Amino acid sequence: MFDFKDRVAVITGGASGIGLGLATRLASEGMKIVIADIETSALEKASESLRASGAEVLGIQCDVSDKAQVEALAITAYEHFGNVHFLANNAGVVSRHKAWEGPEDWDWVLGIDLMGVIYGVQSFVPRMLASGEPGHILNTASTAGLLAFPGIASYNVAKRGVVALSETLHHEFTKSALSVSVLCPGIVDTNIGTSERNREGIDYKPEPDKFLPSDGKENLTPDEVADIVVDEVREGVFWILPHKHYGEQALEQATRRISGGTPVMPHIHR
Ligand SMILES: NC(=O)c1ccc[n+]([C@@H]2O[C@H](COP(=O)([O-])OP(=O)(O)OC[C@H]3O[C@@H](n4cnc5c(N)ncnc54)[C@H](O)[C@@H]3O)[C@@H](O)[C@H]2O)c1
Repeated sequence: MFDFKDRVAVITGGASGIGLGLATRLASEGMKIVIADIETSALEKASESLRASGAEVLGIQCDVSDKAQVEALAITAYEHFGNVHFLANNAGVVSRHKAWEGPEDWDWVLGIDLMGVIYGVQSFVPRMLASGEPGHILNTASTAGLLAFPGIASYNVAKRGVVALSETLHHEFTKSALSVSVLCPGIVDTNIGTSERNREGIDYKPEPDKFLPSDGKENLTPDEVADIVVDEVREGVFWILPHKHYGEQALEQATRRISGGTPVMPHIHR
């Protein structure tokens, strides 16, 4: 059972959406908060609003796809708060393209959504293990880590990688004071549909509906997801699936693997 109070959390992508919802909820649990984000203006705004609610907050500008910046994030977090007990590898982006298209999209998405998580693990886990104190890693994957949605190939691959990394960590944390969960949400009302706002070298035009078509029926708010995360991390849950029907679909797909079936198109809501 993970105890949050008076401990330190680092949340990447903490200036918006699920990361900000999580930072807000963890602050209300009595945690000291480091939010790291690439988007400076949103980072400043989020830090100020968390501070206004009484939280002890450090905002750090960081591009998680840059290994040196993630290492610098760890150094600064430990210098400032003396320890880190909870790391949310949450920053993420999506790009819409087919599997054979968009070499630059592949680099951009894998750099943030997969390598960003790996760099977080590499920079924080050795320090967390060395402290000997209880600690938790929360990796934000997606239902795309369980099911392959057409049109977002790089996202599916990155998120399945995050699921594999998280399962591996779970086994490797045996007999340590660390634990890990993987968060696989369906649709959440965030700014993910405009993730290219933070992408260098493109002529960005807002297309909020670019990510996945949704009729809104299964949408959760970031605060609802944060509540589920805190409750389930506290209980020691590894697979955090705020939308349970994706777990059922993943089970059906797994069953088809041994019965000779082909993959079935995943459903967003049912
Ligand atoms: N919204 C959904 O429906 C949904 C569903 C499943 C999984 N997710 C995952 O949730 C996570 C959070 O996304 P969100 O939906 O809250 O979107 P969001 O855009 O609201 O928040 C993502 C945050 O990550 C930051 N970010 C982007 N690139 C970065 C980088 N290189 N370095 C550091 N920070 C960076 C953004 O500035 C933003 O603050 C992502 O990993 C996403 O893939 C979202």
